[in-house]
This record gives sequence, structure tokens and C-alpha cells, in this order.
Amino acid sequence: MNFGRDTQSAIYRAGAQGQRPPVPAAWEELERAARLAMSPAAWAYVAGSSGSERTADTNRAAFDAVRIVPRVLRDVSQRDLSVEIFGHRYPTPLLAAPVGVLELVHPLADLAIARAAAALGVPYVLSSQASVPMETVAAEMGGAPHWFQLYWSSDDDLVASFVERAEATGAHAIVVTLDTHMLGWRPRDLDAAFLPFIHGQGIAQYTSDPIFDRLVTRRLENPPPTASKPRVSPATLRTLVNMTNNYPGQFFRNLRSGRPRAAVETFLEVFSRSSLTWANLMFLREHTSLPIVLKGIQHADDARLALDHGVDGLIVSNHAGRQIDGAIGSLDALPSVAEVVNGRIPVLLDSGVRSGSDMFKALALGADAVLVGRPYAYGMSVAGTAGAEAVLRNIIAEFDLVLGLSGHSAAGTLSSDAVVRAG
Ligand code: FNR
Repeated sequence: MNFGRDTQSAIYRAGAQGQRPPVPAAWEELERAARLAMSPAAWAYVAGSSGSERTADTNRAAFDAVRIVPRVLRDVSQRDLSVEIFGHRYPTPLLAAPVGVLELVHPLADLAIARAAAALGVPYVLSSQASVPMETVAAEMGGAPHWFQLYWSSDDDLVASFVERAEATGAHAIVVTLDTHMLGWRPRDLDAAFLPFIHGQGIAQYTSDPIFDRLVTRRLENPPPTASKPRVSPATLRTLVNMTNNYPGQFFRNLRSGRPRAAVETFLEVFSRSSLTWANLMFLREHTSLPIVLKGIQHADDARLALDHGVDGLIVSNHAGRQIDGAIGSLDALPSVAEVVNGRIPVLLDSGVRSGSDMFKALALGADAVLVGRPYAYGMSVAGTAGAEAVLRNIIAEFDLVLGLSGHSAAGTLSSDAVVRAG
């Protein structure tokens, strides 16, 4: 396989015919283009992290502190980028992370990244906070690999329903995100006083769910005594129109029924469960035969507990620095987690991966694969499906070149002697 060289060649040859790539290859340029492409509120939501955003910086610093040590004269003409996870062979060790509310980024929302990921065989992890129901996205992917990410609701029946639906779409795994049972303190969103869910955005998995629908009906029939009517103003009317537009079905019927607003209130009530413990995992095990992957692991002891509880995979992640300000870099957490796991279950990593070189470093330090979130979201904002696909393709191409140029021929055999710590 010569993915890197073929990608370069296609870009240069297209250039000779006057065509430029849909998105910039350099991260800083992509970031700049995405900022221009998105509305200020969307940019704040997607690019913003928690607090003073130090964790997001630390994620990047952790990659910068690791340096690749090249080897030479090793015949790297044939390179195998593929990896096997849960019995599925994927073409490369790259997955598209679950990113909610993609309608903020591009009108095609989840469908843009779904098409892009499917074109490359990159598994896409569908988000609980998607803008498009999982069945529609999975159908769009036409059998290409996808996983499902679960936010564990306070309602057990809803959890079971999401998992059942995901299984029916052919998902390869259930990813339980553990670091967002409360929303992190995000100054950019707070200053804009903007949370998409309140406008009915990013709740398509819920409004397409029969159990959720029942909860909404129950709320409409028995409104909670504390429920207050919002003050009528141009802003509240705008919000109501947005909510109603975002609700499936006929606009005026929805407006009269009050369902869109009740759905938002119900969502805010049942979204998450901060009381979750290791014991709850048994519930999930009883409701799915799919591999269970925990996302948000940052401590070796949690990796040990995950193994004790029969978990099938881990994602070392700090949610791109969006949850706790001043936390450790995700890559810094990886080696100790990988050491505890010792190859027994797959360990994936995200938060701060921006390039093929970053991918190489994560694999060398013990990850079986990596995920990217903001990179493809930025690509989507600039050029829709083509932009998301170009971003994923560029990362894989650079990974292939870095792999070969540093003297390695298989993604699956990288080890820590391929890198050193700076200094
Ligand atoms: C996320 N992330 C996320 N994670 C998750 O499990 N469910 C979700 O719905 C979301 N939504 C979401 C929205 C936005 C705008 C961002 C930026 C991130 C986290 C995501 O899955 C992943 O952990 C990080 O995005 C990876 O870091 P990078 O690649 O963005 O640095």
C-alpha cells in the first residue's frame, strides 16, 4: 500500500490541472479557514474548551514533547496500515470520533462525515448528541464500519433502547463516554449564553426514539409543578421556532402540540447520570452482545478496574480538553494505561491528534488506534463531505509517510523504541 505517495501524487497532479485541495493541509491554516466558515456561536461551541483551555493546550504539548527517532535501510516499500479491533480489520488505525451537534458545522451534519468516513473505510463513532438519527446515518454509510457512542441517560429504558437501536444498525461496538456526565465549564459558550440542546439541536437520537417519545408524552400529560412558562420576547419566540424546526414532523402540528419544547425539557432532565458506578456496567452487558468500550479513561487504576469488570476496550481521552481545565494531556495518560492493559484489550486514544505524525506517536506509546474530532469537523465546515474526507485522507497519508520514512512497515507493530521524550 502506498497511501501517502498516492495522496500526494493525486494532489500534485490535480494542481497541474489548476485544481487546489478542498482544505488546507496545515493544521493552523485549517483552523483559520474553519473559524471563517462557522458562525461565531458554532465556532465557540466546537473550538472552545473548558476554563482557560489549558487542558487543550496540554494535549498538544504532550504530543510536542515526544519525538520520533527514524531508522534507515529497512525495506519499507510495502507498508501495512491495517489494524484489527474486535475481530474487524480496518484499513488504518484512524477512527472518526463522536462529535455532537454537527448541524452547527454544516447543513449535512452527520451525513457529511458519515460519507467521508465510509469512503475511506474509517469507522465513524455515531454520537448520542447527533443531529441525524443513527438509522439514517448507518443507512447512508451502506455497511461501512460504524460504532455507537452512548451518553448514559438517567432513564434505564432509554439506555436500553439506544443500545438496541445501535445494535440493529450494525454498529461494531458501544462506546460509553464517562467524562461528560455534567457539562464542563466552558467560558466561550457561557459568554455567548448558547447551548445548542436548548434550541433543540443535537437531540435527534432522542426525538427519534420511542421510549423518549413516551417520556415526552408523560411530561405533557403531567407537567412538573415547577415547570415555568418562559417570558414572551423576540428571543423566546425565536428559540421556540428553532426548537420546532428541529423537531421531526409537521411544523404547525408540533407548534400546537408543545412537543418540541417538552422534548428539550425532557432531554435536559434525562441526559445523563452522575451517580453512575462500575456496578452499572452490568446493566449494559445484559442489554448488548456488542463490545463495550469506555471513553474518558485517564488513570491506570481505572484501566485496571475496567479489566476487572470485563470491559472490551478503552479510549484514553479527555474530551479534547472540554471538560476539566488544568488536566493532564491525554497522550501523557496513555503509557501507564497501555502498560496495565498489556495488550489484553484494545486501547485507543484521542484529544489533540492533528496529524499523521501525532498518530504515529500515539501508536508508538501503546495505542492500537486513534480518533480525531475537531479536525474533521473543521474540514466539514470548510468544504462539507469533501472537506471531511480530505482531512481524514491527509492524516492517513502523512501517517503512512512518517511510518515508512522512520523505518517501519506495519502500523500494528510500533513500539516505544520508535520515540523518545524531548530533553
Ligand atoms: C466532542 N466530543 C464528544 N464525545 C462524545 O463522546 N460524544 C459527543 O457527543 C461529543 N461531542 C463533541 C462535540 C464537539 C464539538 C467536540 C469538539 C468534541 C469529544 C470527541 O469525541 C473527542 O473525544 C475529541 O473531539 C477528540 O479530540 P480532538 O480530536 O477534537 O482534539
